[in-house]
Order: sequence, then structure tokens, then C-alpha cells
Amino acid sequence: MKYYIRTFGCQMNVNDSEKMAGILQSLGYKPAEDWSEADVILVNTCSVREKPDQKVLSALGEFKKVKKNNPSAVIGVCGCLAQRAGYEILQKAPFIDMVFGTTNIHNLPKLLQQAKLGNKAIEILEEIDENENLLNQYPTVRENKYTAYVTVIRGCDKKCTYCIVPYTRGKERSRRIGDILREVQFLVEDGVKEVHLIGQNVTAYGKDLGDVKFWELLVAVANVKGVERIRFTTGHPKDLDEDTIKAMADIPQVCEALHLPIQAGSDRILKAMDRGYTQRDYLQKIELLKKYIPDIALSTDIIVGFPGETYDDYLETVRVLKEVRYDQVFAFKYSPRPGTPAALLTSIAPEEKASRWLSDLINMQKEITFENNLKYQDRVVEVLFEEKKEDGQLVGRTRTNKLVYSYGRDNLLGELVEVKINTVNRFSMEGIILEA
Ligand code: SAH
Ligand code: SF4
Ligand code: F3S
Repeated sequence: MKYYIRTFGCQMNVNDSEKMAGILQSLGYKPAEDWSEADVILVNTCSVREKPDQKVLSALGEFKKVKKNNPSAVIGVCGCLAQRAGYEILQKAPFIDMVFGTTNIHNLPKLLQQAKLGNKAIEILEEIDENENLLNQYPTVRENKYTAYVTVIRGCDKKCTYCIVPYTRGKERSRRIGDILREVQFLVEDGVKEVHLIGQNVTAYGKDLGDVKFWELLVAVANVKGVERIRFTTGHPKDLDEDTIKAMADIPQVCEALHLPIQAGSDRILKAMDRGYTQRDYLQKIELLKKYIPDIALSTDIIVGFPGETYDDYLETVRVLKEVRYDQVFAFKYSPRPGTPAALLTSIAPEEKASRWLSDLINMQKEITFENNLKYQDRVVEVLFEEKKEDGQLVGRTRTNKLVYSYGRDNLLGELVEVKINTVNRFSMEGIILEA
């Protein structure tokens, strides 16, 4: 029996898919090379903007064909769109056998059994399922041998006015430190060198556990023997405090990289988004980060064309990009999401203007990214090689998350190696491995 999982959306979904692969493998399923030969197809969906919603429906249209040759194949839909609109999807695609929400993943074995008996297996709970920690017992099945995601907090309490996530993922629930450390220990024993702690808002970690702080989690993970690098995503500017920044600077394994979404530069728009900070607050955090961690590589998310955004508002965002000089910016056009407060606002920024602002901003950022990369020319950096191409080229990342290509021995895979950068391209670098 074989399974195939198609994943849309963010790292949370990627990690959930890795868990579902773990569950399916523990039931005896093997991964299928292609969806057409699978006995179980799972589509793990995202609903953060309208585009991903549409992609899901077209993927389902394709997967439907699996039943021609294999009528007993099971097609399941899960993830954020399933949580938000599972019954709607079922109406549009009645051939689906299984629909489950974001907090019901641990029930996959039971749901699959129902579906295989020919029944529609549906489980979408409004409330968080208290048993979701049962997920702890399953391993994750990862594509990357040396770096691994570890979910540390689920859900989000922020309720930014444009965002669907709090409705698809529920309230914040931090995983217990002991459970996280056990998972990290297991991963390290499995060969993992780099642990990437993830959550919609990791900097809120521990608020629901009483007295645990996010920086204490960082310390605890760093103390697991064998953890050589730590990253975390996403931090919220409001919850990122000086203690956390100090811990980032003090803990040798925490990489000099941070994704800190600003969304907009204009205070008026930030207020309408209910982000809980001003441009000045945000820039002060950036200043603190650069003070403690001078080499830090920063990245951010931007929304262009929020309802009521004017050209002057947009220019404030441009101003921040020019001041911070991010290494990477993920910019999107605002997309109204059903049920969110912003979807009720009528003063939409004109479509064609927002599109132009977005492409101008992306082009400007491309230059900044390239200029930042040029600073790496002739520098010696630490690279964790993760993959070998067919032509023998090794591919890895610096602590600052830059992609580096090099030629060297196979047994450098999974090792932290010093590389001297000799070529800087727009999106990657090449270098020579310095052997000890
Ligand atoms: N928890 C993270 C973001 C999760 S969603 C944070 O708070 O930063 C990932 C990104 O999608 C967001 O940072 C935002 O830039 C974008 N996004 C979310 N809702 C959106 C919407 N309605 N329209 C356009 N972009 C959106
Ligand atoms: Fe969405 Fe805001 Fe929560 Fe991020 S912090 S997931 S943008 S509500
Ligand atoms: Fe998408 Fe859900 Fe992540 S909406 S961005 S998959 S939390």
C-alpha cells in the first residue's frame, strides 16, 4: 500500500505532512513515487490567500483520476482550507473520501479505516481536540536528513485583521518542553544537525504554560547534545523581547538569522491590521537585533494593498525596506479572507495600483538582496551541506541561510564545513571548501 501527500502553505503544514507520513508509515504504507500509483492521497491545504484555495481545487481535479485504475483509492483533504471550508470542498469535489481539520491529525488511522470501508470520513472540530498531543508518539518522515522542523507552539492568539490563521489553527497551545526535547533528542540520534523550531508565533511560546519563556526553550534545546544549529520561525515583533535577543546572541547554536514580519510600514495601516506595534517600535527591535547580533540576516513579510492603503502609506513600507536592508522579503498582495474583520472593509486599494506597488517593491528588494550577498565575496563561512546534486555538487546553507554550492567529498554531507566564497550570484553563492 502506498501514500502520496501534496502540501500547500507554510512550514506548519510541511511539518504536519511529515507527521502524517510518519503515521502512514507506522501503519505499513510506503511512499509512492507518483500520485497515480497511490492508494491514499492526502492534500494538505492552505487558505492564507485566495490563490492557494484555487490551487487545491485544481489539484483535486487531477487526483480524482487515480480512481479510474484504483477505485478503492482514498482521497483525503486536510489542513487550513479543510478546517475552514471542509464541507464546501466536499460539495465541490464529492469524490473526496476523507476530510479532517488541523487539530484532528492524530485521528488519521481511525479516519482512514472508515474511508476504506467506503464511508465518508469527516472530522472537523470547532474546539481544539484535547488529544492532539497523541501526535507525539509518531515520528516525522523528512526529506532532509540533516535539518528538521519541530513544532513548538500551535495556533495563534493575535487576530491580525486580515488573517485567517487564528480561525484555521485555533488558539495558542505550547507543547510541553519535555515533549519537545524528547523529539529533538530523537532527531539528533537520527542524524539531524539543525533544528528549526516552528509555530505561527514562536515568540509567544510558554505563555499558556505558566512561567516558561521562549528564550528558556532556546537554552533547553541548545543543551541537547548534538544540536549544532537552531533556527526559529515566525517571531512576532510584539513578543520579541530583549531577553530573547540576548539569548540569540549568547547561545552559540542559534543562527544569525531572523524572519520578523512587519507587514506594513505605515502606522495607520499597522493599526488597521491590529499588529500591536508602530514602525518606530519595529525599527527599535531591529536596532537591538543589529546591536547584539551585528551579522544578522533579516527577512520579513509584507502585505501590499491593504484596504484603504494610499501611496503615502506604501512609501512608508518602502522606507522600512531601505532602512533595514533585509536579506529576503516575502511580499504579497492583500487578499480578503472570508470571516476576517478586514474582509468587511470597503475602502479597497485599487487593484492595478497595488499590483504595480508590489512589483516595484519586489524589484527594489532584489537589488538590496544582491548587494547584501556581494558582501560575502571572499569571506569564509560555515556551511551545513545537505544535499548532493547529480553532477557531484554539494548544496548547503550558511548560518545566515544563504544557499552555497561547492564541490567536495561525499562524506561532507551533514557536516559543518568552512567554505571560502568565490562567486556571488543573485540567489546563491559558490565557494571552495577549506579542508582542515
Ligand atoms: N504568523 C506569521 C504569518 C503567518 S501567514 C506572522 O504573524 O508573521 C504568512 C504571511 O502571509 C503573513 O506574514 C502575511 O504577510 C501573509 N498574509 C496573511 N494573510 C494575508 C492576506 N489576507 N492577504 C495577503 N497576505 C496575507
Ligand atoms: Fe496571522 Fe497575525 Fe497570527 Fe501571524 S500573528 S498568524 S499574521 S493573526
Ligand atoms: Fe496557510 Fe495554514 Fe500555514 S493558512 S500559511 S497553511 S497556517
